[in-house]
Amino acid sequence: MVESPAAGGTGTDPARTEIGVAARRAAWHAVRRVHVEGAWSPPAVAAALRAARLDGRDRAFAANLAYETLRWEGTLDWALGHVVRRPLAQIEADILDVLRIGAWQLLHGNVPDRAAVGTAVELARAEVGPRAIGFVNGVLRGLARRRDTLPWPSGERGTALRLAYPDWVVAEARRRFGARTEAVLEAGNAAPGLTLRAVGDRDALVEELRAAGYDARAGERSPEAVRVPGADPGRLPAVAEGRATPQDEASMLVVRALVSDLLDEHGRLPPDWPVLDACAAPGGKSTHLAGLGGQVAAGDLRPVRASLVAQTAAQLGVSDRVRVVAADATASPWCPSSFAGVLVDAPCTGLGVVRRRPELRWRRAPEDPVRLGALQLRLLESAATLVRPAGRLVYSACTWTTAETVDVATAFLAAHGDRFTAYDLSGVLGRSGLAGDPGVQLAPDVDDVDGMYVAAFTRAPDA
Ligand SMILES: C[S@@+](CC[C@H](N)C(=O)[O-])C[C@H]1O[C@@H](n2cnc3c(N)ncnc32)[C@H](O)[C@@H]1O
Repeated sequence: MVESPAAGGTGTDPARTEIGVAARRAAWHAVRRVHVEGAWSPPAVAAALRAARLDGRDRAFAANLAYETLRWEGTLDWALGHVVRRPLAQIEADILDVLRIGAWQLLHGNVPDRAAVGTAVELARAEVGPRAIGFVNGVLRGLARRRDTLPWPSGERGTALRLAYPDWVVAEARRRFGARTEAVLEAGNAAPGLTLRAVGDRDALVEELRAAGYDARAGERSPEAVRVPGADPGRLPAVAEGRATPQDEASMLVVRALVSDLLDEHGRLPPDWPVLDACAAPGGKSTHLAGLGGQVAAGDLRPVRASLVAQTAAQLGVSDRVRVVAADATASPWCPSSFAGVLVDAPCTGLGVVRRRPELRWRRAPEDPVRLGALQLRLLESAATLVRPAGRLVYSACTWTTAETVDVATAFLAAHGDRFTAYDLSGVLGRSGLAGDPGVQLAPDVDDVDGMYVAAFTRAPDA
């Protein structure tokens, strides 16, 4: 690891030192954007890397440092709390993020202490100003000294700190997964690697990527999935040219659940199959449905998000099959019984996608699962009125809390079981749900995909 002069190292190459600080500055900019603007981490990291113009190794270091700092935020704050005399809430937010970046390197980063502290000091100098230097230097040196004697708690608090989750998320996971809790949470910390959805010929895409030196292989569950571990989507011509789009296989499986058994021998939906994606932004599933031949109505609550669907459709060449509407799906503007298929890919806590968006776990609050579960049930009930007789309704959420997943599907069936029946997804998802659960909970520990919940219903032909 590169050392900075401020770390007290001697004989360091000044050019390399500069790059070492540049990588930390890029990571800091990404973290700040997530914290200040509420940005999603993948675009925030991508923007920071673009602006920093780093080379390959430093780019990878900076991206990893940003994601890991966001992932470990609660644990880093707990550790910093043992060496800072005042409450962390009283520290300027931009300085606190410098400290977190330094603390992650000290606790987990396999970075020499002098480099972790020195580059943090240089980062503070460059981004905050000289007034922050002494404080950052003192706190991080203090943490380096205390690192091996921090009073790590036992019990569930210890689990939360050791696995980098808020206490309430550990409690939710324990309720949902029991003895599997640690495995699920640990899998949520593993780097997922890139998965692409091939927009055209999947085999040709795999060949193209292999020819370019990537270790690409066909995904095992969805016929359009391509796994490309270690690849940066921002650098792939297939992505830039709209021949592939980054998407987790679990999301592809949600679409597959909606269209299972309906595709012809060419993998196409019946002509002009009318389908509504009621919560569509940014458009991953709408464009997938359009690519299969569906005639897609894509709604999303906020106009700015709805416009993302139009952008995605244009990028992937399916604008002619996607009609975008900014609409509240709980007060639906569509005609009753007008769609052969309706997808409610509901707003949720997102705890199933923390591999890709590690910051989400710290953004959510303990009351969110119940609040969002209630919204999801309203969305599902409203969407159900739009399904034509013998049509299909799929409910999905990229999370696993009980209140958002099984409780919603169960409550829906309890109220509408006279008209809707859950259908079996084992052929599509590779396994069935647990007894008493109308849907299936995918999870990264056993499925190697995002933690997506899927439940699928058909409307009775005569109801
Ligand atoms: C999980 S995301 C959808 C992801 C999308 N289906 C995809 O695959 O790209 C949930 C979306 O629901 C939208 N949403 C939230 N409340 C809504 C409502 N009442 N009506 C319609 N959309 C809503 C959010 O703006 C968000 O874009």
